[in-house]
Amino acid sequence: AVGGVPNTPPMGWNSWNTFGCNVTEKIVRAQADALVSSGMRDSGYDYVVVDDCWSATDRASDGTLQADRERFPSGMAALGAYLHERGLKFGLYSGASDRTCTQLLGQRPGATGSRGHEKTDADTFAAWQVDFLKYDWCSVDADHDRQVDAFVTMRNALRDTGRPIVYSINPNSGVAVGGDDTVPGAAHDWGGVATMTRFTNDIASAWSNGGGSSGSQGVLDVIDAAGPLTSRVQAGAFLDPDMLEVGVAGPLTDAQQRTQMSMWAMMAAPLMAGNDLTTMTPTVRAILRNPAVIAIDQDQRVTAGAPIGDNREIWTRAIGDKGLVVSMTNRGDRRRLMTVTLSSLGLSGDATVSAVDAWTGKRYDAAKGALSVSVRAGDTALLQIA
Ligand code: GLA
Repeated sequence: AVGGVPNTPPMGWNSWNTFGCNVTEKIVRAQADALVSSGMRDSGYDYVVVDDCWSATDRASDGTLQADRERFPSGMAALGAYLHERGLKFGLYSGASDRTCTQLLGQRPGATGSRGHEKTDADTFAAWQVDFLKYDWCSVDADHDRQVDAFVTMRNALRDTGRPIVYSINPNSGVAVGGDDTVPGAAHDWGGVATMTRFTNDIASAWSNGGGSSGSQGVLDVIDAAGPLTSRVQAGAFLDPDMLEVGVAGPLTDAQQRTQMSMWAMMAAPLMAGNDLTTMTPTVRAILRNPAVIAIDQDQRVTAGAPIGDNREIWTRAIGDKGLVVSMTNRGDRRRLMTVTLSSLGLSGDATVSAVDAWTGKRYDAAKGALSVSVRAGDTALLQIA
């Protein structure tokens, strides 16, 4: 474990995708109850992260952060206790600037970012029994050194509390996908700083926005941005491709939602659900709780996968001692037969190879030195090679 937090990617639920700035303690408690009753907690989703807008617009007279009194009347320590009593973990959000993102975007007044208050705020989080801090960057400040300094300062303050706290950073709000090195967040390898690090602008419930450099990102845009970066992933230091859109209102088909889960597993990425767990359908629950897919994501070896050459549809990931997973995503709009050669997987062409799809449980035997699977439009075959 790194800093006392687990080596494998954190899993949980975050309030932002569905509730945004309307989050309340009542909502968070209901979501926590649903994590337990739906079996999600027992599948591994145990961090409950209250994103932006939990805090009051001013600090208390002693300089500490305080909860918004209308939406969190019982206070944050009480909410943490509620979660811990249910075997869940407690996550909160703050910003590395003077203000948090929604405040900067003009959606709320006031100033509650942690800049200049890192030690005070880390101590407050530890006193509230916080287990996870999402620490955001929402500033037009493009000074790379200052950005690194801001994230390292909070990392050190959290360490100094002695409490194991997952450190989830976002150096990239409003930043182009693809690593424009004139922008601070994208080019830097933050692995030594944080447990998990965002590398794209905010994800949306969308398949693709065409890979545009501004605005929100679709699932395919995030996958393509991750491709060149996955070698950075190691135990306790993950790329954060942002939250799951599985079950979130929007245009993604079931197949496309399976693709998001599949590729997050191929990246060894944190699995943070963002849907309303109190109303999710059995289909959504089955996608989020698929045990074979979660096992790939959580593999103890913690080596992320990568695309094969220039083919963005096919990735491989090494798991366990000698295991191999191959993902084949059909980006087209019709079902089609997809093929991967054994030689492209580093296997001899005359080997006897079979594979099982983590989604369907179906077994495929290699023929003529290749594996072929018929994949629905938007779907991903997630093949575990045996
Ligand atoms: C940024 C982050 C989001 C969310 C919002 C909250 O946009 O990237 O994930 O935390 O801020 O304001």
